[in-house]
Amino acid sequence: MDEKRMKKYGYPDGHLLYRNLSRNYPKITHGKGVYLFDEDGQCYLDAAGGALVTSVGHGNEEVAQAVFKQLTQVAYVNGMHFTSEPVERLSEKLAGYTAKAFGGEKFRSLFLCTGSEAVEAAIKFARQLHFDRGELQRSKLLVRTPSYHGNTLFALSASGRPHYQKVFQPLLNEVVTISAPYEYRSPVEDYAKNGADFYGEELEKKLQEVGPETILAFLFEPIIGSSAGASLPPSGYFEKIQKICKKYGILMIADEILCGSGRTGKFFASEHYDLKPDIVVLGKGLAGGYAPLSAILVKDSHLKEIHEASGNFMHAQTYLHHPAGAAAGCAVLDYIEKNRLIENAEKTGALLHQELHQALDSHPNVGFITGKGLLAGIEFVKDKKTKEPFARSEKFVEKFVNKALENGLTLWPNVGQADGVNGDLVMMGPSLLISHREIVKLSAKL
Ligand SMILES: Cc1ncc(COP(=O)(O)O)c(C=O)c1O
Repeated sequence: MDEKRMKKYGYPDGHLLYRNLSRNYPKITHGKGVYLFDEDGQCYLDAAGGALVTSVGHGNEEVAQAVFKQLTQVAYVNGMHFTSEPVERLSEKLAGYTAKAFGGEKFRSLFLCTGSEAVEAAIKFARQLHFDRGELQRSKLLVRTPSYHGNTLFALSASGRPHYQKVFQPLLNEVVTISAPYEYRSPVEDYAKNGADFYGEELEKKLQEVGPETILAFLFEPIIGSSAGASLPPSGYFEKIQKICKKYGILMIADEILCGSGRTGKFFASEHYDLKPDIVVLGKGLAGGYAPLSAILVKDSHLKEIHEASGNFMHAQTYLHHPAGAAAGCAVLDYIEKNRLIENAEKTGALLHQELHQALDSHPNVGFITGKGLLAGIEFVKDKKTKEPFARSEKFVEKFVNKALENGLTLWPNVGQADGVNGDLVMMGPSLLISHREIVKLSAKL
């Protein structure tokens, strides 16, 4: 990269608080489809979809026009005082998706901006439901490690990411933790065959330790995101977990912020496992980056209980039910439906996995490739036989991702998954409109 430009956009120059103070940032001027362009004309194939956000590509005129139209009609109304056409319409559309995925029961949506906020709102909803039922002892959240649910203090408390938590530990809340089904580093002898029993037994044991009647909800990613490289659960896992949660009255909160909104070839990743969560959280791809938008989807019957007991769900924020955010969500879903992008995610996703396996399976430093649809993770190791990771001091994945960027490919890195410190992986989650040709190009660049 050009030294002059690299010096221009990075610490200590400028006034921006850069997230990473030891790297330089290209300045992006525009994007089209799966490509981004910087001010020097360098083109990047956006394999990471930003932070696995883009779903309908960059520079999508239809979506941008819909947001613009809404902004000119009304930019903002207080969600405590008014409703608006886009929020009503988006909630109806999402109810269509939940009806198809989870059966008859009606779901209602509440719209916020970021995933972390929505995760916290979902936890508050679960707590208030138990409170209104008189089950005041249900105060503990059950989560898995590794996992990621956000960076606000409670969402961070709920995340199985020790290296993100270390500095902030005194500010975090206690949660109950079990192991996530992380296939590559699972202690189970035959993951596919024995995994469900193993993790089911661990859950039962943990519940007996802490008292199942104290647990308010189980928060989980149906397909794990960056914290475990798109790891898939073993067969029968969710059947077992769901049965146990039901037996003890533990609400299931599916965090589909990263894996939902069509990315894995179904609208909800839960659908792959016949999973019927009580609450679903969406974000990222729902508005595809055209506005900050997240949602919690809750059962109408649960809201009815709250309505009859305390009256209202006690949660609001300034940008609750933001009309322009919802307009972006509606336009993104319209575009996905019109262009059959969920089917495309399934088809091109299968090609992506085939290409990745063909190109990289035999590489001595590629430990594992996994994922579903247009979600893929690759874990790198120093020693393939022992699965020994590179020492963190080598900064393997940082170097890898920077090199890819220089070669015009964006990837999403992650570290620490092997033991809380070491571990290097990259995630891919391109826009759902990616073509076969672009998948082949992505794989070749990689
Ligand atoms: C699974 C999952 N949950 C929650 C979040 C938090 O979302 P946000 O960064 O929008 O707050 C993320 C973000 O990466 C995520 O991947």
